[in-house]
Amino acid sequence: MAERIFVAVAWPYTNGPRHLGHVAGFGVPADVFARYHRLVGNDVLMVSGTDEHGTPNLIQADAEGLTPKEAVDKYSRIISEDLRALGLSYDLFTRTTTRNHCVVVQDVFKTLYDKGHLIKKTAMGAFQAATGRTLPDRYIEGTCPICGFPSARGDQCDNCGNQLDPDQLIDPRSKIDGSKPIFKQTEHFYLDLPAFAEPLARWISEQSHWRPNVRNFSLNYIANLKPRAITRDIDWGVPIPLPGWQDRPDKRMYVWFDAVIGYFSAAVEWAGMVGRPDAWREWWQDPKSRHFYFMGKDNIVFHTTIWPAILLGYGNGGKIAGGKGEPLQLPYNVVSSEFLTMEGRRFSTSRGVVIYVNDFLSRYDADALRFYLMLAGPETQDTDFTWADFVRRNNDELVATWGNLAHRTLVNAHRRFGEVPRPGTLTPNDESLIQTVESGFAKVGEHLEAARFRAALQELLHLSALVNQYLTENEPWKLIATDRDRAGTVLYVALRSVDSLKVMFAPFLPFSSQKLHEYLGYEGTVAGEPERRTVRESDGSTHDVLTGDYTKSVGSWAPPGLPVGQKLRAPEPLFKKLDPAVVVAEELRRMEQSGGK
Ligand code: MF3
Ligand code: ZN
Repeated sequence: MAERIFVAVAWPYTNGPRHLGHVAGFGVPADVFARYHRLVGNDVLMVSGTDEHGTPNLIQADAEGLTPKEAVDKYSRIISEDLRALGLSYDLFTRTTTRNHCVVVQDVFKTLYDKGHLIKKTAMGAFQAATGRTLPDRYIEGTCPICGFPSARGDQCDNCGNQLDPDQLIDPRSKIDGSKPIFKQTEHFYLDLPAFAEPLARWISEQSHWRPNVRNFSLNYIANLKPRAITRDIDWGVPIPLPGWQDRPDKRMYVWFDAVIGYFSAAVEWAGMVGRPDAWREWWQDPKSRHFYFMGKDNIVFHTTIWPAILLGYGNGGKIAGGKGEPLQLPYNVVSSEFLTMEGRRFSTSRGVVIYVNDFLSRYDADALRFYLMLAGPETQDTDFTWADFVRRNNDELVATWGNLAHRTLVNAHRRFGEVPRPGTLTPNDESLIQTVESGFAKVGEHLEAARFRAALQELLHLSALVNQYLTENEPWKLIATDRDRAGTVLYVALRSVDSLKVMFAPFLPFSSQKLHEYLGYEGTVAGEPERRTVRESDGSTHDVLTGDYTKSVGSWAPPGLPVGQKLRAPEPLFKKLDPAVVVAEELRRMEQSGGK
């Protein structure tokens, strides 16, 4: 029976183009996961969008002399184009500035308010000295009053994990201009998190399949829950749908409150887009559908605590759910990655320590990047991107192992036979190779199911190496002169293996697997690609989204059973070998020119 797999990918801010650190942490892993489940035959709904409200986006707009709307339009387009070029197969990649999102967020807010989960209170708020604008907690830095960590943020300490209020920080300063913030009384709505402490604690402790870092961090976090402000003194965000608040220009919802609700609003938008407005219920109200969230580790508590509390509070209430059906689903897994550093330093746009996705893709292929990030990326620990390592892994692992195997098999079979040769009797050795490769479907599948991407890819490289070794031992290109039948059998065994590996590599390397699929003589798509589309809302406004029809793909997570006699097409190399001397020197020079030292 097909399972429903909801793939929820962190929403990138529209405060600049995305760099490798962003897509390493959530974009590519989520896509590999979604593509795998589609091949298995499960129903997948993969959603996200650009996160366009709040201070991060306002600061960028100011810096460029643009209105907030102009800035988020600009970066939303750039970002979704990058994600498309990287082959991230969203069913819907939308925006938080749509009308639909506003309606859903306001419904959730209003429902929480009506159910008594919001507390109105006046507390100390921080404001920028120069402009009098609100200074969000994340933009205040100081010493942690609990553990003494010198660069704790105003909302939490990344060292001890404790939630903080900015006025608790010792020696606070604005991260925007270094000035000392002004603290004054201001009225806001708070989500009553302590009221959810017990169900959250019970729920999190039951999640033994979560990565230990996620579970431990979350358990630690909920040990000390306080009400959390979900409104801000800011003029860019979703208006608060209550009398006396709705029309105030200076009060808006907290960007994180509106962004996490995007996972729900995007499903609602998708349902409308496909012409079945209630279809979101199949994903959000069926207790058997499983929700997987992908993000960087600085987003964990928003996904394991705050968002689940909002979901528990909303239940099936509100205008959207209408009191019908089951309460909205909690996350099944929260897959968080660690950080990617760059040549030994934390990515930093201001210091030029950065590689933008579009810049990278202008010089290298999407599959080469996807391969690197999944093999050497920050899956379970902070990792360092270096150009030397990228080139080495590209050449020694992608090109030399899988690329070489696929290429020499195809070239020889195409040149000597032009079609899939009819095999003679298979030797025990032939049989056992085919079997070993095909057992990969179970093994690799198990790794992918558990979001162990590196292990899955290593297994695939191991299988590729076995087939390479088989070719080297059997030398069909020599045999052809003396024993054409045996050469055909060897190439048949290799082609069958390559065909299976093509399917298993497809979640990681969709573009090259598709090419290989065609070289092997098949028609149709093994891995569908996302496209941009303009959609119109009920009020006539339009916005661009990424979407795709991935159900048309012919691939499935099983040995494809390559037909004997199928005509092969002339192959080209799938991947490019890179010259380490040239690439490393050039890229380091580029980095230095842009200010990274
Ligand atoms: N925009 C946030 C960031 O870049 C991520 C938001 S994820 C979601 O860190 F939960 F809001 F969706
Ligand atoms: Zn601390």
